[in-house]
Amino acid sequence: MIDSETKVVGIIGNPVRHSLSPIMHNRALSHLGLNWVYLSFEVEPARARSAIEGARDLGMVGLNVTMPFKMEAVEWVDIKDGSVILTGSLNTLLFKDSKIMGFNTDGIGFLNSLREKSISLQGRKVLLIGAGGAARAVAFVVAQQEVARLTVLNRTPQKAHRLAQELSSFKPETEINTASYDLGLALVISDSDLIINATSVGMKDHPGIPIPTDDIDQRHIVYDLAYWPLRTELLRDSEERGARVVSGLEMLIHQGAESFRIWTGKEFPLPIVREELTEYLKSIEDRSR
Ligand code: ATR
Repeated sequence: MIDSETKVVGIIGNPVRHSLSPIMHNRALSHLGLNWVYLSFEVEPARARSAIEGARDLGMVGLNVTMPFKMEAVEWVDIKDGSVILTGSLNTLLFKDSKIMGFNTDGIGFLNSLREKSISLQGRKVLLIGAGGAARAVAFVVAQQEVARLTVLNRTPQKAHRLAQELSSFKPETEINTASYDLGLALVISDSDLIINATSVGMKDHPGIPIPTDDIDQRHIVYDLAYWPLRTELLRDSEERGARVVSGLEMLIHQGAESFRIWTGKEFPLPIVREELTEYLKSIEDRSR
């Protein structure tokens, strides 16, 4: 029951209607019997800052922040977590003692999703496809692990070089390089253990495959940060070739779990949320056929 004690969290972005976060967090909140509600706020870019300050002044507990505000919102917070300083973007706000605190739970969410599957990054050769916001969040946490190598591949090579340079300055002891969409790519793919797609290629409104899969086999783990569709073309092809595959739904759930912990101090009911989102995505997939 919503009453005068109900605590409010939510997500701010534009567009934001496609977001699965309200379904995910409200399922978790009701499972734990908390008198909280998670709402979605689509705001005009020019009003985003005042909306966040208003949310603080209204006594909301916190917010998730999504596109296109993840980077500019860094300037609007009073206290930045290390994850925000490192990546230059945030996805979670906590309002405390009239202060706005910013966090980025994408990186830790990615790591925790691997940990839950007992996949270690130590000694792995990682191929990261993409150099945008999602790729950055993952790149910095991967570089912090004891990986054998981190290779960045991006359609616009300059962006891959820039990201690789930043990562090298951050972690000089890690081998960090770039790859290109050329004849040498097949070799890079076969010499990688973990392949991460952090581009928009393969998402429902952006169908396709970000790399050829001919050289992928049972030695590979392929992680697609996209979760809609649940099985992207990259994951389908890689699985057929024997690779172990991980859907972006896992990172979505784990970044949500970290935001939830920041707001409530409680553990996220991962299996319940996973089931809810999987059912939901399957139902909209069936309807869109
Ligand atoms: P996000 O925050 O979701 O990462 P983004 O910052 O816009 O979004 O980054 C999108 C990524 O997908 C980029 O790496 C982009 O490559 P460019 O840097 O060359 O733009 C990549 N991308 C988008 N469309 C692509 C396509 N058709 N082929 C290959 N890469 C693509």
